[in-house]
Amino acid sequence: MNKPINKTHAWKKLASHYRWHKNDEMKDLFAKDKTRSSKYTINLGNLYLDYSKNKINEKTIRYLLDLTKEVKLKEKIEAMFSGAKINQTENRSVLHVALRNRSNTPIYVDGQDIMPDINGVLNKIKKFTEAVRFGDFRGATGKKLTNIVNIGIGGSDLGPFMATAALKEYWAKDMKCYFISNIDGSACEDVFAEVDPETTLFVVVSKTFTTIETLTNAHTCRKWLVDALGEPAVAKHFVAVSTNAEEVSKFGINTDNMFEFWNFVGGRYSMWSAVGLSIALMIGMDNFEKMLDGAHEMDMHFKNTDFEHNIPVILALLGVWYNNFFGYREQGIIPYDQDLRFLPKYLQQLDMESNGKSVDLNNNFIKYETGPILFGGAGTDVQHSFFQLLHQGTKIVPLDLIVPAISHNEIGEHHEILIANALAQGEALMRGKTVKEAAEELTKAGKSKEEVNRLKKYKSFAGNRPTNTIIIRKVDPYMLGMLVAMYEHKVFVQGIIWNINSFDQMGVELGKQMALSILPELQGHAHIEHDSSTGNLIAIIKKIRK
Ligand code: F6P
Repeated sequence: MNKPINKTHAWKKLASHYRWHKNDEMKDLFAKDKTRSSKYTINLGNLYLDYSKNKINEKTIRYLLDLTKEVKLKEKIEAMFSGAKINQTENRSVLHVALRNRSNTPIYVDGQDIMPDINGVLNKIKKFTEAVRFGDFRGATGKKLTNIVNIGIGGSDLGPFMATAALKEYWAKDMKCYFISNIDGSACEDVFAEVDPETTLFVVVSKTFTTIETLTNAHTCRKWLVDALGEPAVAKHFVAVSTNAEEVSKFGINTDNMFEFWNFVGGRYSMWSAVGLSIALMIGMDNFEKMLDGAHEMDMHFKNTDFEHNIPVILALLGVWYNNFFGYREQGIIPYDQDLRFLPKYLQQLDMESNGKSVDLNNNFIKYETGPILFGGAGTDVQHSFFQLLHQGTKIVPLDLIVPAISHNEIGEHHEILIANALAQGEALMRGKTVKEAAEELTKAGKSKEEVNRLKKYKSFAGNRPTNTIIIRKVDPYMLGMLVAMYEHKVFVQGIIWNINSFDQMGVELGKQMALSILPELQGHAHIEHDSSTGNLIAIIKKIRK
């Protein structure tokens, strides 16, 4: 792209369209057009996106679709799927889609079809997970391995962490899983308090196998195991998932017990690879493959569907509309499902590590907004925490409400109450309540005129706050695969529009570097000049720790 996106014709048209329509009320748009909901609902199998509760009309969508032409989105999608090195700062292909390429068409990286390697690792995962689950691969003392401890951080933790929780209904009945990510020693101690070394399998996951948190935690776990069962037990209780065989070997894990993945898989896009080993151990390979199948269906939809009916593209365009024109800087993700409660945390890394960038692909500092601040939590819990601000605060936060139609636990009225709440939030945020309506309601409730006047503004809701509602049949492996792939592609499209590289994460490096220089100071081995605040904080902490 030659021009920055905010200088293009499509962008300017959107800017002027925004000026004309920024005060449009969604409730009026609904009143004017009875077909609005069907016009703005798309589905892929049992995943439905209703995006009618957005500040859009037909022209908005047309102009947003013009942006996709401006940035040559079609060609960029083709480029990703065909293995082009679109991660240009690291000169890498971006091929999480190859990990779930269930149609098995060849995909080439540097002239080499990568599918045989991918299928080879999937077979290795299948054999290993079955051996553990059926008790053929046992611990050093002959006991079945029933506690899986995933040691990893960021993309090497969040995918398995989120997906095992989401799919807990599919766990082998005699197995449990635990996660150690934080360098805080309590993370290890909490797990040690729960598990027995004889029945515990540690899965050390690190793309680079150099991440200080993961290696420190892995060494602590190794010592705990060796203290209990002796050095030879390591081979039966530790496996690794990494791209770095040399470091895995140095750690003392036999590379036969290493599950490989590749540099064309970014950490936050990696749960479809061997990084998902803990998921496969817990839910079984058949279910893990169903998750890949669901993601593949979404991949094909994304690649082959015209953009007007393309779920990830529409989500991405709506995000750009709010982020860059309305100036809404946040995006909320609210799954109305207990098992999906960690999805926002997972998507936080996916979105914010991918699109939290301020230099474009032409090597220029950017003068428009890029990735949003993403947060969220499970409904209805969050209705009783941050929803007050969403309804009456001065900030407007577009939300995705994710609603499974069927629960794994249909007890009494629970699920209907849950769904009723999800739908009510979308309606309330859109419709609001005028001061007049609030006054009428108060009067009807028998309040005095004085009281009505005192309370009516407090009881009013501005409304006109956008939501997407995403309905899925049920949280099963297939639907989870679809859902996560949908968000991956949404993030991809936004990265293309903002002309950034969504696949590196150089912003995490400076803090890591500085921590490495502060560490010897805390330990009293060095003294480095800092700003006076940091220097003083080091001194205070050293004094307290003495
Ligand atoms: O903190 C950045 C990061 O590189 C993430 O992108 C990654 O998911 C995480 O650290 C863990 O990295 P690794 O898998 O190499 O240990």
